[in-house]
Amino acid sequence: MRLDKYLVECGIGSRKEVKKIIDNKLVSVNDKIISSSKENVDEEKDIVKYRDEIIKYKKFRYYILNKKGGYITAVDDPKDKTVMDLLPEWVIKKDLAPVGRLDKDTEGLLLLTNDGQLNHRLLSPKSHVDKTYYAELEKDISEDNLEKLRNGVDIGGYITMPALAEKIDDKKIHLTIKEGKFHQVKKMLEAVDNKVIYLKRISFGKLKLDDMELGEVREVNLEDII
Ligand code: URA
Repeated sequence: MRLDKYLVECGIGSRKEVKKIIDNKLVSVNDKIISSSKENVDEEKDIVKYRDEIIKYKKFRYYILNKKGGYITAVDDPKDKTVMDLLPEWVIKKDLAPVGRLDKDTEGLLLLTNDGQLNHRLLSPKSHVDKTYYAELEKDISEDNLEKLRNGVDIGGYITMPALAEKIDDKKIHLTIKEGKFHQVKKMLEAVDNKVIYLKRISFGKLKLDDMELGEVREVNLEDII
């Protein structure tokens, strides 16, 4: 791979910025200063340093975001702010895409990656990744209705798969679902004559929101996800 491409993909800067950095003799490969952007590097073996700091090549990047309300889950949008606007400078945005979708008003855990295959795999209807939501409701929820949520409810011609539903208090629940149908949690609550007034995803498969602040981003490894 060309040195300039390597550095761009490692998030050092744009093609133009990286060229300048290389021209300024700030990059070395195996401790030899390189001044040509066209130099080829072996991303597995070569040690690339920028200002004496090792820049390790990572083909795939995985980040988790504690999404704020008011942002849509998309890469770009002509009118709305997107989750990409929530990502800090240090996040390498190239080819990054969210895995699945949270509604504009939903908060919580969202995975973003440039690993298209993983993205596809996690979203496949067969993958059945557990997703746990914390929901605040308009009305008290009865044990009867919790049981209906557990067994499956009709959300407009689709019967939901068995779910875990746990009451926190009269108007607060944890709901764990395996699918990811459009507005699924909101529709499930509507199916039992209730309404979600606040929704936050607290886990996605092995990934947990834990103590993440609203708007915070963390880089994670593939092993943390599957
Ligand atoms: N279910 C919903 O209704 N909304 C979300 O954002 C996620 C799950």
